[in-house]
Amino acid sequence: MIEAFLFDLDGVLTDTSEFHFLGWKHLAEDLGLPFSREDNEALRGVSRRESLALLLKGKAVSDEEAQQYMDRKNGYYLELVRQMTPANLLPGAREILEELASMGLKRAIVSSSKNTHLVLERLQIGGLVDGVVDGNAPARSKPFPDLFILGAALFALPASQCLVVEDATAGVEAAHAAGMKAVGLGPFERVGMADLVLPSLEGHSAKEILAALGEYAPG
Ligand code: BG6
Ligand code: MG
Repeated sequence: MIEAFLFDLDGVLTDTSEFHFLGWKHLAEDLGLPFSREDNEALRGVSRRESLALLLKGKAVSDEEAQQYMDRKNGYYLELVRQMTPANLLPGAREILEELASMGLKRAIVSSSKNTHLVLERLQIGGLVDGVVDGNAPARSKPFPDLFILGAALFALPASQCLVVEDATAGVEAAHAAGMKAVGLGPFERVGMADLVLPSLEGHSAKEILAALGEYAPG
């Protein structure tokens, strides 16, 4: 049975995925490169460096330029993050974290973002989670399984007892590569390979999710 939920952060518990898009869009405009919402879908869940490579679409840049571009995008992103408050939690996020706590299940944040701690501070939900694995970990980014494997290790649990909640294709792939089931939030085209697909967490309890996955035995 599931003993821990491993939550992605951006696009799952909060709307920062939109801020990442706006940051990359701003950088693309600075560089005179086309960048649409559709292009942005491939950047969901992947690291900052990989996102830049996707945005540049093969355009060659030096390591120094790449670093400057990533710093500039992060500056745009942080301007938006600094304005965040607990009101930026997505509907259903606080409710499921509180429900899981009352059920005695572990909760971790497992995100590719190096800004995870800052975002958690703005949302003021640090007290509702038992652990954090972020993009500063010495590990490969999603879609590799590394971050989720570190998440399971926080609680010394096998992969089969961890459930991932993700909004990105790369994130669901990472969960499966780690041997974990995944709940995919968002459109079927993006997360259709997940074990359960929901539009968002709004109105969905942990018990209902576990029951749908055949992982809930009341008692
Ligand atoms: C992921 C986001 O959570 O973190 C990506 O979905 C983002 O859009 C990635 O690029 C890395 O974030 P950061 O904050 O380290 O640039
Ligand atoms: Mg995400």
